[in-house]
Amino acid sequence: MVDYSEEIKKYHILTYGCQMNVRDSEIIAGLVESMGYIETNSPSDADLVIFNTCSVRHSAENKVYGKLGEINKFKKNNKELLIAFGGCMAQLNEVQQKLKNTGVDILFGTHNVHELPRLIEEANQEKNPILRVWDKEGTVVESLPSKRKEGISAFVNIMYGCNNFCSYCIVPYTRGRERSREPQDIVAEIKELAELGYKEVTLLGQNVNSYGKGLQNETDFSRLLYKVNEINGIERIRFTTSHPKDMSDNLIDAIRNNNKVCEHIHVPLQAGSNKVLKLMNRNYTRDHYLELTKRMRDRIPGVSITSDLIVGFPGETEQDFEDTLDMVDKVKFDAAFTFMYSVRTGTKAASLEEQIELETKKERLNRLNKLQYSIATEINKSLEGKTVEILVEGTSKTNTERLTGRTRCNRIIIFSGSKDLIGQLINVRIEEGKTFSLFGDYVS
Ligand code: SAH
Ligand code: SF4
Ligand code: F3S
Repeated sequence: MVDYSEEIKKYHILTYGCQMNVRDSEIIAGLVESMGYIETNSPSDADLVIFNTCSVRHSAENKVYGKLGEINKFKKNNKELLIAFGGCMAQLNEVQQKLKNTGVDILFGTHNVHELPRLIEEANQEKNPILRVWDKEGTVVESLPSKRKEGISAFVNIMYGCNNFCSYCIVPYTRGRERSREPQDIVAEIKELAELGYKEVTLLGQNVNSYGKGLQNETDFSRLLYKVNEINGIERIRFTTSHPKDMSDNLIDAIRNNNKVCEHIHVPLQAGSNKVLKLMNRNYTRDHYLELTKRMRDRIPGVSITSDLIVGFPGETEQDFEDTLDMVDKVKFDAAFTFMYSVRTGTKAASLEEQIELETKKERLNRLNKLQYSIATEINKSLEGKTVEILVEGTSKTNTERLTGRTRCNRIIIFSGSKDLIGQLINVRIEEGKTFSLFGDYVS
């Protein structure tokens, strides 16, 4: 018998950052598998290690540099090992400079993912590092192969890029201008997912509210929701992210009127002071946000509202920060991701003079978290005794004897039950509400 195992090349992908990157990594996996590579869970076995990176905060970048050093050491034992480096960091000039002579063989941009197979072939022949980073987005590339992770819930891109230029944010520089996929391509992809047994889709875009602009037959996000709602087999539709400045009544109605669209809106407030919101270039005020969230709550019974919040934006005074606390107290977010402002070179806010000291940022983050956690705990406690519909996603990470799923409002719930329930919509009675999750009992 001939042993072919030596000839089959193995790849390993390291994914950082948001759902966009998770989705891109599925495409990267599909592309390299179409070249004959197979996946390995351990990077030390791999012939190809691909970094899919995030540059949204300094800490995200640091993690990547640390890991790169670790992976580079494997080159000692495996001279053929290729390191490919893509994602948002790869778009940045500063990073490109830093990566010179660091063992990276292929540096590929967010607009060049589809070219990866050719770049890998080139790199296997050529020893010099390859740089392939378009500054500007190309047209949307459809029909790339992809290898999705699991069979219940899937991410579906509906648009790419961002035009908002919030002054703190690097994303518009790393992901280019906004462009939407054609509705028929999105619907076709979701129909295929339904046929494969997926029950839930999450529609992805940096700002889904502006979906459809620039398409030949202009459409909008609410119309897309009506179309996706008709697809048989899909039971739940989620989406992220919404921008408070252009959340229309049509969209609120579409969420209410389509039974599969879950009552959960992630609509980041970022800051509570009008002065800071203006400096952030967010284009709304506290009053607008309060009125919007009230309208969402009035029109969508039981809606859950979640947010992202930044503390320590340049120039943020104690009073400005207290305005954020005040908004958190008034809106009562079901959950929030909280961040310390991180300077991103090339963004507007990086050149603002009054940068806030790290100690102050830490102290504000602690106070904000304390408040937000107490609100989340209170909300979750108020749900005790209620029976809710959940989609069972799998076994709990902390206790494989138990199952985990999500409510329509995106709350995580842990309960006991048979593994046959995975992938099904079932009812669970909430027994205990904690800060980040619920515990319950299966109601047959
Ligand atoms: N398009 C989405 C997500 C953007 S990135 C949106 O607008 O909501 C996710 C979150 O990271 C942002 O909402 C923001 O809260 C945070 N973020 C972005 N840039 C940051 C920075 N420089 N420092 C700290 N947090 C940041
Ligand atoms: Fe960044 Fe603002 Fe665009 Fe979100 S909307 S990606 S925060 S620029
Ligand atoms: Fe990070 Fe890029 Fe997403 S910067 S948050 S991976 S769009």
